[in-house]
Amino acid sequence: MRLVERAPAKLNLALHVTGRRADGYHLLDSLVCFADIGDAVALEPGPLSLTIDGPFAAGLSTDDNLCLRAARLAGGDAAIRLTKNLPVASGIGGGSADAAAVLRGLLRMGHPLPDRALDLGADVPVCLASRPARMQGIGDVVTPLPPLAPLTLVLVNPRVAVPTPAIFAALDRRDNPGLPPLPDVTDRAALLDWLAGTRNDLEAPAIATAPVIADVIAALRAQGADLARMSGSGATCFGIFGDADHAARAAAALGRKGWWAVATELASDPRHR
Ligand code: C5P
Repeated sequence: MRLVERAPAKLNLALHVTGRRADGYHLLDSLVCFADIGDAVALEPGPLSLTIDGPFAAGLSTDDNLCLRAARLAGGDAAIRLTKNLPVASGIGGGSADAAAVLRGLLRMGHPLPDRALDLGADVPVCLASRPARMQGIGDVVTPLPPLAPLTLVLVNPRVAVPTPAIFAALDRRDNPGLPPLPDVTDRAALLDWLAGTRNDLEAPAIATAPVIADVIAALRAQGADLARMSGSGATCFGIFGDADHAARAAAALGRKGWWAVATELASDPRHR
């Protein structure tokens, strides 16, 4: 029996940093959704092993990978094949999404979800649900939302890996207000209006570390994005576009700059929007 679990790209449509705990972890308030592209994880019963293929497999360790740590935490033996379609260390879930997909696959194979999934990474709880949610606490408080209004997206990564701890450490302020009251997220105009009044607080420190991120956001705006913003701790940015043709043209133009650029939608399973 071979199981395949998708690990969709996670997007922080808005991400406010609202505090810091004594252990150094930051308190967040974030609107999270999932895109219709992602990595894939295939599981087969057998001794624990990991192979990695796909466009971003190069340089990834098959010894010390979050997928293996997830399987060990769940006490599940499986031969795991990870197809890495998304850039690594890029603010769109990556390792957390892959680890969550392993846990979901092992659950289907009869291994209950571990209590301490959060220990694998702060994005693992939201990626386990893999549906739109408000994420609070350090990532442990996940409130599911209804499917969002359909959104056409362009994701762009300037092929720069950004180290998450350094971005959090470089924050100027850690006591920002939380998200404003959520709008009707099923209404595109209301959602875009609301997003215009929110931020990603990690954008400024990420741009200070990797100035090309500002170029990516400016380029998405120049292509006509209704909203352009960085996801997570970067460097991947997203633009929200009016229609699929416009998004495809923008992705092609930005790809010509040597950046990874894809046009996509919110995850096609309505649960995931
Ligand atoms: O949990 P994860 O491995 O994704 O986090 C990477 C790093 O990002 C942490 O070691 C921490 O420095 C920072 N972080 C944080 N607050 C969060 C999530 C991550 O400070 N809520």
